[in-house]
Amino acid sequence: MIAAGSIEPTQEGFTLTDKDFEAIADFAYKHFGLAMSSSKKPLVSARLARQLRQQNVVNFKDYLDRLNGKNSEQERSKLLSLLTTNVTHFFREPHHFETLRKDVLPGLIEKARGGGRVRIWSAGCSKGPEPFTMAMIIHSMCPDIGKYDFKILGTDIDPQVVQFAKAAKYPADEIAQIPSEYRSFVPKMEPDGRMPANLRSMITFGVLNLIEPFPFKGKFDAIFCRNVAIYFDTPTQQKVWQAFQRSLNPGGYLFIGHSERMSGPAEQHLKTSGITTYIHTPAGGNAQ
Ligand SMILES: C[S@@+](CC[C@H](N)C(=O)[O-])C[C@H]1O[C@@H](n2cnc3c(N)ncnc32)[C@H](O)[C@@H]1O
Repeated sequence: MIAAGSIEPTQEGFTLTDKDFEAIADFAYKHFGLAMSSSKKPLVSARLARQLRQQNVVNFKDYLDRLNGKNSEQERSKLLSLLTTNVTHFFREPHHFETLRKDVLPGLIEKARGGGRVRIWSAGCSKGPEPFTMAMIIHSMCPDIGKYDFKILGTDIDPQVVQFAKAAKYPADEIAQIPSEYRSFVPKMEPDGRMPANLRSMITFGVLNLIEPFPFKGKFDAIFCRNVAIYFDTPTQQKVWQAFQRSLNPGGYLFIGHSERMSGPAEQHLKTSGITTYIHTPAGGNAQ
């Protein structure tokens, strides 16, 4: 007998009741900031059923007990991977990289050459093509950038993708997406297919959950957080936008994904400057 409101048992024979779904949705909201309406129920049921079978768990209730139990870190990150997508690629949403190259980097490179500290953050970087795209553009504009205090931080909540990004080995079909003008880096790739050392040394990768307080002391000159906040509800998005706003230097840039919108208190300081691009501006001021 299927409980009222539950959906058909999965191929694997598991039944996700409304109560189970709500408990999983609450867990995902509390720990990852993911907002899941009941329309996500079939997706949750299908994706998690395979995981239950693989883990020899007999039903969703036991799975939740396991998630809430001790030493559940690995299972939690697996749950997050199953509920979100890590899709990314080099030069994704290329207009942002054009703005970076034309409007942002000349000033930042000058700042670094003058002895200043420059930091760019790719927040929710998945397997790393976003920060590596930045590094390629920066190197193409300033081949001796390694001499200066100019660094990129790449973070994601999912330890598996962070591990991949650290290894920096991309399949040939992904490398093929890099535009020809930046391909000069490709022949310099190491024999095992790793990204070149001069790009790798610019980037530090780490695990970071964006719904928790940020652990940084210094501020950033530009932040990319694209195609991540789509998973959050409006109050969570607004908290994250505000945390980014507080982490940006005056005049710093925030780039968000094509289907994401700025809202809430951060709007007072983040003025729109092109498509899904914002400049940190004093309250009441105008972006250039
Ligand atoms: C679709 S990918 C976006 C990758 C890249 N920014 C891009 O646009 O190509 C979304 C990433 O957000 C990460 N993510 C989801 N919730 C997160 C959270 N609370 N904190 C940090 N990262 C999160 C996922 O693990 C995933 O790798």
